[in-house]
Amino acid sequence: MKKYHDEQEQTPFFSKLVNYSKQYIAAFDVPGHKRGNIQTDLTKKLGKNIFLYDSNAPRGLDNLNHPTGVIKKSQELASKVFHADRAYFLTGGTTLGILAMVMATVKAKEKIILPRNVHKSVINSLILSGGIPIFVKPLVDKHLQIAISIKTKNIIKTIDDHPDAKAILLINPTYYGGTCDLQTIIEYAHQKGLVCLVDEAHGGNLYFHDQLPMTAMDAGADFSAVSIHKTNLSLTQSSVLLQKGERISPNRLQATINILQSTSPNQLFIASLDTSRKYMYFHAKEGIDNVLELSHKYSTLINEIPGISVKGRDYFQSIGCFDFDETKIIIDVSKLSVNGFDIYKKLADNHSVQLELAEEQILLCVLSIAQVEKDFLYLLNALKEMSASYYKMEEFNYPPIPLNYPKRCFRPRVAYHAPFVFVDVNDSLGEICAESIMIYPPGIPLIIPGEKIDASVINSINSYIKNDLTILSESEVGKIKVIDRANWKKPKVDNN
Ligand SMILES: Cc1ncc(COP(=O)(O)O)c(C=O)c1O
Repeated sequence: MKKYHDEQEQTPFFSKLVNYSKQYIAAFDVPGHKRGNIQTDLTKKLGKNIFLYDSNAPRGLDNLNHPTGVIKKSQELASKVFHADRAYFLTGGTTLGILAMVMATVKAKEKIILPRNVHKSVINSLILSGGIPIFVKPLVDKHLQIAISIKTKNIIKTIDDHPDAKAILLINPTYYGGTCDLQTIIEYAHQKGLVCLVDEAHGGNLYFHDQLPMTAMDAGADFSAVSIHKTNLSLTQSSVLLQKGERISPNRLQATINILQSTSPNQLFIASLDTSRKYMYFHAKEGIDNVLELSHKYSTLINEIPGISVKGRDYFQSIGCFDFDETKIIIDVSKLSVNGFDIYKKLADNHSVQLELAEEQILLCVLSIAQVEKDFLYLLNALKEMSASYYKMEEFNYPPIPLNYPKRCFRPRVAYHAPFVFVDVNDSLGEICAESIMIYPPGIPLIIPGEKIDASVINSINSYIKNDLTILSESEVGKIKVIDRANWKKPKVDNN
């Protein structure tokens, strides 16, 4: 144990980078700023230091695409902390990890079983790999109208219905903190010969506390893509792909990562993964103890505000969620006469409170060990003002948002390669969509390439426009990209 502790004191990559930054180097390599020699506005603002640490791949600092030195050593230390056999640092976020693990596992026309409420990077991985998605309906909270988890029996049935499937992808936890019975599902999927992939974009904290839900690696998953930047302490865009076992060869995985990752990965991102891992190893348990205490204390205080309540672990377990990550706070604002999107904007514009996201009836706060108590007071006061202004004591009835997903007609890759036209959203009923459309956050597509546009999709897009939300799509506002059926040689079967 002592040896393990000593080892985790090290930051092999970061330490080497510090040494490098201290040396005088006659720089005939890239980057072009030559260690911050020219004072741009950014250099003036942030200082030269950040540029001294921003090197490319000088001798001694190893190569992320073929790590044999300090990056390899840092990755090995991370693999131990994250209970994995191997850890691959990523400078393109968990997006890159998801693309890589799906592409390395699923070839064109092979099936992958997954919940429909996946992040857009998963859909994009299917465009790249050509895999066939077999979607499973998520568990939806009918009151809050959010997809919170997935039922074991639905996944098991889908596995049984598709004995030819290659892989399964699960989310641990969902954006809103709900988890499924990962261990049971993974054990069953492995028995049936499936490779198990997990999107743990929001689960990096789970590795550090036994009161938080089980991790993908402990549940026996083959891969997990983890946004260290979201719930640990690294810089935005830095993530880790974890691997256990060799159902997919590590060489194939590294080769796939190399297809997707820049050949000039940002050294600051890598350094921040190294220092985050060390800090979390030594201090996360205590930090999460503190955050859970704050989460409980302020959830109780928020519950005292008229018309506003927090939905926590008991609530989500009562509606069928396996477990819940209490470092996420879900605030139910359905009794106020303004919707969640408006409150999100008001809190940011008038109260200096930045929430992670809003939906029609909820607000989501994401906590980490860096949370300070003072910020909860801002939140509490802002919510009190919202209640005073918008809680009218009478029941406010929201029109239910339809939560049925559109019908899949073609694989995402087939639709992506088809000829397309842009049409008015209101004229698109029955067309086959040729793009993914979502609001960000959370970045979960409302419709994906290859699905048929139905009335509920049109209503949701119109409601996003009305609420002035950031819609991620390839079309201008009010339009949608659909397959140009008049000029499309439609495949007889969905097999190209
Ligand atoms: C569920 C989920 N998966 C994957 C991602 C992608 O993660 P990253 O931002 O690290 O690329 C996100 C980002 O929000 C997400 O919410």
